[in-house]
Amino acid sequence: MKSLITNPAVVLVEWVVVVAAVNMIMTTSTLSSLPSREAEALLNSGWWQRNTTTTNHCEWVGISCNKAGSVIQIHATDYILTAGAALEKLNLSSFPNLEVLDLSNCRLHGSLGSQIGTLTNLVSLNLSDNLITGLIPSSIGLLTNLTHLNLARNRLARFIPLDLGNLSNLVNLDLSYNNLIGSIPSSIGLLTHLTHLVLERNRLAGFIPVTLGSLSNLVLLNLRSNHLTGPIPLSIGNLTKLNYLYLDSNQINGSIPSEIGNLVHLFGWEMANNDVIGPIPFSIANLTKLNYLNFASNHINGFLLPEIGNLMQLLHLEMSWNNLIGSIPSSIGNLTKLDSLCLDSNYINDSIPPSIAKLKNLKYLNLSVNLINNVIPTEIRELTNLIYLNLCHNRLFGPIPSSIGHLANLERFELFANQINGSIPPELGNLSTLDYLDLSQNFLSGPIPKELNRCHSLRYLGMSNNNLSGNIPAELVFLMSRLEHLSLSHNNLSGTVPNCPCGSCPLDLSDTYLECTLTHPPHNKAKGNSHLLAIFLAMSIFLAFLVSGFIYFCRSKITKTPCEARAMKNGNMCSIWNYDGCIAYEDIIRATNDFDIANCIGTGGYGSVYKAQLPNGQVFALKKLHSLEAEEPAFDKSFRNEVQMLTNLRHKNIVKLYGFCLHSHCMFLVYEYMEKGSLFCALSYDDEAVDLNWTTRVNIVKGTAHALSYMHHDCASPIVHRDISSNNILLNSNLEAFVADFGTAKLLCPDSSNRTLTVGTYGYVAPELAYTMVVTEKCDVYSFGVVALETIMGRHPGELLSSLSSSSAQNIMLNEVLDPRLSPPTDPLVARDVVLVSTLAFACLRSEPESRPTMQRVSQEFLACRSPPAKPFHSISLWQLRNPEGNFPPNQIQQSKKGTGITTLE
Ligand SMILES: *[C@@H]1O[C@H](CO)[C@@H](O)[C@H](O)[C@H]1NC(C)=O
Ligand SMILES: *[C@@H]1O[C@H](CO)[C@@H](O)[C@H](O)[C@H]1NC(C)=O
Ligand SMILES: *[C@@H]1O[C@H](CO)[C@@H](O)[C@H](O)[C@H]1NC(C)=O
Ligand SMILES: *[C@@H]1O[C@H](CO)[C@@H](O)[C@H](O)[C@H]1NC(C)=O
Ligand SMILES: *[C@@H]1O[C@H](CO)[C@@H](O)[C@H](O)[C@H]1NC(C)=O
Ligand SMILES: *[C@@H]1O[C@H](CO)[C@@H](O)[C@H](O)[C@H]1NC(C)=O
Ligand SMILES: *[C@@H]1O[C@H](CO)[C@@H](O)[C@H](O)[C@H]1NC(C)=O
Ligand SMILES: *[C@@H]1O[C@H](CO)[C@@H](O)[C@H](O)[C@H]1NC(C)=O
Repeated sequence: MKSLITNPAVVLVEWVVVVAAVNMIMTTSTLSSLPSREAEALLNSGWWQRNTTTTNHCEWVGISCNKAGSVIQIHATDYILTAGAALEKLNLSSFPNLEVLDLSNCRLHGSLGSQIGTLTNLVSLNLSDNLITGLIPSSIGLLTNLTHLNLARNRLARFIPLDLGNLSNLVNLDLSYNNLIGSIPSSIGLLTHLTHLVLERNRLAGFIPVTLGSLSNLVLLNLRSNHLTGPIPLSIGNLTKLNYLYLDSNQINGSIPSEIGNLVHLFGWEMANNDVIGPIPFSIANLTKLNYLNFASNHINGFLLPEIGNLMQLLHLEMSWNNLIGSIPSSIGNLTKLDSLCLDSNYINDSIPPSIAKLKNLKYLNLSVNLINNVIPTEIRELTNLIYLNLCHNRLFGPIPSSIGHLANLERFELFANQINGSIPPELGNLSTLDYLDLSQNFLSGPIPKELNRCHSLRYLGMSNNNLSGNIPAELVFLMSRLEHLSLSHNNLSGTVPNCPCGSCPLDLSDTYLECTLTHPPHNKAKGNSHLLAIFLAMSIFLAFLVSGFIYFCRSKITKTPCEARAMKNGNMCSIWNYDGCIAYEDIIRATNDFDIANCIGTGGYGSVYKAQLPNGQVFALKKLHSLEAEEPAFDKSFRNEVQMLTNLRHKNIVKLYGFCLHSHCMFLVYEYMEKGSLFCALSYDDEAVDLNWTTRVNIVKGTAHALSYMHHDCASPIVHRDISSNNILLNSNLEAFVADFGTAKLLCPDSSNRTLTVGTYGYVAPELAYTMVVTEKCDVYSFGVVALETIMGRHPGELLSSLSSSSAQNIMLNEVLDPRLSPPTDPLVARDVVLVSTLAFACLRSEPESRPTMQRVSQEFLACRSPPAKPFHSISLWQLRNPEGNFPPNQIQQSKKGTGITTLE
């Protein structure tokens, strides 16, 4: 022994020594004492290698003993050193006094043997978040003192043992996220102390047992995502303490029992994606505490009862994809807290009640695909928080009320396939945040109002199949140059299209057909022409429809436009144009006082950024390369690249390039000015960071996601930015996000193998770039994930990300990582958005590029109608965020009937 101990070579296997020591004790004096048997069992497990320097196992981490030195608690979450230890390694029969066994989150594999039944004093058994396979032994029924049993998130298979019904002291039972089959045993009804029953995400089939009605203490009943059939038992009416009822994503049929009216403490009721038939019972009026109610994708028929107006705490009401008939009751106006109302795809007729005006908090209103046959009420003007308004596929008639121009936050307005007549109200031009407008397939007449030119965010404009007439107003040229989709076909429009988003659309409207979707033509390359004085930007009025892409001039050739002629006449070497007309080089010189340092707002290795105000008040940012750097090919290339990319990108969350001058002695780019500077700076200064409240931060992340989705998916060739970081997200005066700095952006040509050259900012670069040089969209997705987390954490998440790989990080709560300068969100809808941002961020940070979602998917997730998380905000762990239901597969959302949102975290 002594020689062993003094031999340094054996230090590595120190614990062997202790085993030997314990064995020696056993063979001498205390052969069969309980404490020594327990010590031996702990040692033999091999799980406490780090702690064996002391022979008293009661001092080992996670172990508690009683006064007699016998183990009563093994609370060893995250502490097991031996990666991939088998559960069987610990001889459970050796701990007759054990009261608490918590080995959650230890990457344990193996199965649960029948010796578990020997732990008859066990009060709490938690083996959640491991890799345990096999079945739940029926001997578990012997643990009659158990109050908490958690085997969630393992790989348990087979049936739930009947003997579980013996655990009459059980308060909390969680078997979710396993592979359990068979039916829910009716013996579950014997567990009358249960408050939480969670069987989510197994393969449980058969009926919901009637005996559930005996569980009168239940607060949470979660059976979602199984294969349950049959009706909701009437006995559910006995569960009068229930707060949350999750039955969604099963095959439950039959009708809703009126006994549900007894559940007067219900906050959340999810029943989407089932086969429930019949009407909504009147007794629903009793559920006055409901926060959210989701019956989407069932076969519910009958009327939407006026009694729904009693549910005045509702935030989210979703009855999409059912067979509801009749009108929307005017009592809907009582639901003044409502954030989302989705009644789409039913057979609702009659009118939209004017009382809808009272829903001042409404952000999402979807009444599409119904039979509503009346006018759009002018009262809709009151819904000033609306972001999404979908009325398509109804029988609405009469004009579009001009009051729609009051909906200052509207981003998407769908009205296609109705019988709307009259002219398009010019007030639509007030909707400066409008991104998507579809008025197709109506009876609209008259001209296209020139005021639409003020819809600066519009990307999709559908007006085909109407009776529109007249010329397309010249004022719309800039709008049209930015659109990604424009449809004007089947109207009586005449004249020419002043500009068109795609180079290929016909200029002649005589065939009354015009439909184009933006495609990016191959980019012309700036040739090394020694006569080349300046390259002009083609985003301006007159040129974009001549050639799409790049236009460049040689001084002596080219017919000049008035603007350009002025610039040339004045002897300038460059001209910078924007949609307001033109800005001459001299204007820039004047505006910056010849690049006076006083106007400099930032400087970097390459050059400086200036703020420039023109006499007409317009403010620009101007990035100028230092004259020495201008000679440097790398900088030159980066500048040209930026021009090339930004010329072809039009998105409300991508910084706008107004013009540029690329001359060997003077290179600068002119952008939209961003008052609030970079996201990085805004997060760095405490006073500015506090201005970035949760809503603003969520919107910053959303805007960035939409911009990246556009770059990756809406362009003919995907464009990867390659340097997404908080430094390259800029904020305007409204704290909206803009992706900037396209110096390293790259077109991904599918047939090119040269996607090489690692660029990017340290701390934001996807891990795969360390070993492969292949740049894909998924590199941007990763960087986006970093920025998204950084935005809600208020600091770079580098430390958190490296600690996540260690198992001890698994219990970190979302609350603990949020920016401490803001108090955690209390509004459930804001909390929902913060949870969504975090969930998506973690999905984007997955190490395998293939398992990251696409930006398109991320962007769509932000647009989906969704319920607030059911769990209290403070009880959401990072583990849950990283393992969400639905798992965000990298493919797109399926447009199926069942495909409603996915992350309702429980
Ligand atoms: C047991 O190991 C843990 C983790 O290394 C350590 O924190 C603890 O201090 C150790 N306890 C003893 C008694 O050595
Ligand atoms: C487990 O412990 C019990 C009680 O100490 C003992 O009887 C049994 O032999 C042990 N089993 C193994 C496989 O060591
Ligand atoms: C287990 O239950 C029995 C009988 O109810 C009781 O005497 C005993 O104290 C309980 N053990 C623990 C650890 O609670
Ligand atoms: C409802 O609960 C009571 C006691 O809590 C019980 O006696 C009764 O059997 C239960 N009814 C059903 C239908 O389960
Ligand atoms: C409403 O709830 C009360 C208990 O609070 C109950 O007595 C009544 O029967 C319920 N009404 C309906 C219609 O379910
Ligand atoms: C609910 O709406 C109905 C119909 O609009 C109205 O008569 C009733 O007073 C409202 N109830 C409350 C509490 O506002
Ligand atoms: C968050 O900030 C925005 C912009 O500063 C502001 O309009 C909004 O009212 C703020 N929200 C809250 C809840 O303070
Ligand atoms: C990639 O780059 C190499 C070296 O610059 C060149 O030889 C090769 O032709 C390029 N391949 C493609 C597909 O552009």
